Order: sequence, then structure tokens, then C-alpha cells
Amino acid sequence: MTIIKINAITVPADAGDELARRFAARAGAVDGTEGFEGFELLKPTDDRLQWLVVTRWNSQDSFDAWTKSQSFAQGHQGASAPAQHGGPISTGAELWNYEVAGGSSK
Ligand code: HEM
Repeated sequence: MTIIKINAITVPADAGDELARRFAARAGAVDGTEGFEGFELLKPTDDRLQWLVVTRWNSQDSFDAWTKSQSFAQGHQGASAPAQHGGPISTGAELWNYEVAGGSSK
């Protein structure tokens, strides 16, 4: 069963463009991970500062293994590096745990 792990990152307004660029530069880095099914980076279109990294996995074990992997550590090495505006690219992060309980798609 697919599980959904959302990382809600608080990103100062002037660091958003750089966050998007950093993700684009890492395109495909997580794709080969066992149990990984896909992710979207969602940018706020209102005045919120939370960007959402919505990831899908085939099990909790797959997700846990990825967060403990070297690949995750490497992918997040730069996360604490200052952004171009001089401050941090994110000032907070929160993990939200979900599963699909209903819906439809076209
Ligand atoms: C303290 C917690 C975290 C912070 C501050 C954070 C922040 C970031 C940043 C800034 C990047 C861009 C990488 C770069 O700078 O080059 C990134 C990449 C990424 N993050 Fe996180 N992240 C955190 C934890 C997580 C968690 C728990 C997940 C999963 C739900 C996640 C999913 C991803 C994915 C999928 C990528 C891009 C693909 C990859 O590099 O493997 N992050 N994160």
C-alpha cells in the first residue's frame, strides 16, 4: 500500500527561487531508491512560506531505509548551506505522515 510522506519546509520568501533551482539540479537523484514511487515539490501560490515535498513510498520500511541512507545524507548536505540572500534556505521542516483514504483522478 502506498504511503505518503510530506516534508513541509519553511522557506523565506526570497529563497524560494533558489530552493526550486536546487531541486531541479537534483532531478532524478531519488528515483532509483527501493520502494520510492514519486514526489512533487509544491510551491505556495498564496503568502504561506511552507513548500511541500510530497513523496510516495511502497512501505514505511522503504522510507525509513532511504532517510538512513548515504544518498539521503548526500542529498541534504547542502540543505543547511546559506542561500544567495545570505540566510538559510529553510528555517524549519516538519514531516507529515499520510495514507490515501479516498479520492478520484481523471
Ligand atoms: C530537516 C529536514 C529537511 C530539510 C531542511 C530538507 C530540505 C531540503 C532541501 C533544501 C533540498 C534541496 C537539496 C539541495 O539543497 O541541494 C532537499 C531535497 C530533497 N528532500 Fe529534503 N529536507 C528535509 C528532510 C526531508 C524528508 C524527511 C523528506 C521526505 C519526506 C525529504 C525529501 C526530499 C527530496 C525527495 C529531495 C530531492 C531529491 C533528493 O535530493 O534526493 N526531505 N531537501
